[in-house]
Amino acid sequence: MTDLYSKIVSTGSYLPQKIYTNHDIEKLVDTSHDWIVERTGIISRHIADENESSVDMAYEASCKAIERSNLKNNDIDLILVATTTPERKFPSTAVLLQSLLNNNKASAFDVNAACTGFIYALDIADKYIKGGFAKNVLVVGTEKITSLIDWSDRNTCVLFGDGAGAVILTASQTPGLISNTIGSDGSYKDLLTVNTDTEVIEMRGNDVFKIAVNTMGKLAKKTLENSDYSVNNIDWLIPHQANSRIIKAVAKKINLSEDKIIMTVDKHGNTSAASIPLALDYGVNTGMVKKDHLIIFEAFGAGFTWGSTLLKF
Ligand code: UT7
Repeated sequence: MTDLYSKIVSTGSYLPQKIYTNHDIEKLVDTSHDWIVERTGIISRHIADENESSVDMAYEASCKAIERSNLKNNDIDLILVATTTPERKFPSTAVLLQSLLNNNKASAFDVNAACTGFIYALDIADKYIKGGFAKNVLVVGTEKITSLIDWSDRNTCVLFGDGAGAVILTASQTPGLISNTIGSDGSYKDLLTVNTDTEVIEMRGNDVFKIAVNTMGKLAKKTLENSDYSVNNIDWLIPHQANSRIIKAVAKKINLSEDKIIMTVDKHGNTSAASIPLALDYGVNTGMVKKDHLIIFEAFGAGFTWGSTLLKF
């Protein structure tokens, strides 16, 4: 029997029209453009309209990915949506997306692993495809994360933005996804959290920063050690986009030069589960990411959760 792999055949993304620059945020809290750029690398972020939900953004990103895949909506047999900002408590965002897509063939469900959600969803998709349980999977990361922002808290309000990214994974005789690793440790549950009584993001930023760098650095190293590839084979590191200093520190830990990083945090801010598929689509649209490139995804988020994917595009 020949090996079965899952392969990303297309990407799509959506960013809301409204943009907040650092100068806009200077009007809300005691901060400065220079502080935000120096400490985070963020220059601007997109903000969803009041009546624009995570499902609406997921739909726009998904339509682009489906169109580029040459599949029809009903060819999709599994829809996975990574989000922490669902439009409704239930039905799931994935089911609401299925309805907008007029798809009546797929199973659909959400994955919540905070900023690592997209990697968790990829892991599930990969296993469904390798197990022969699905052929064409739509995997989406979508967040209206600014709905969880306290706009008077300068520790958090400068960091986040909204958007969605989508990929189509299909069964393939060649890789595709080479390896996928996910993990979590609930003992850190209070360092980055949204409590149901306040419904706003609370973060011990400095503690999160250090653990994020260490965890993603180790994970990237281990992912390469467990593969047939070395860092010299990597065409692109596409990490979760929370802070350019975290991203550069992770690249340094694996001796990867900075020109091999797809960096979008300057334009998007931290879009949680949407950040990796948004950055991937940005890489594709700008012509940086090409067919057969070797790519490593690295993510880290509340929980803590973490994940790493090595793939041939
Ligand atoms: O997506 C999931 C993972 N999330 C992350 O990875 C985020 C990780 N954390 C970070 O990116 C960084 O910790 C932050 C960007 C959130 C903060 O940067 P930092 O270098 O760790 O700053 P800090 O929290 O240690 O604060 C340094 C100073 C403090 O002032 P004092 O106590 O030194 O007087 C803060 O009050 O900067 C102050 N500060 C600000 N100043 C201007 C904090 N936020 C701001 C602000 N503008 N927005």
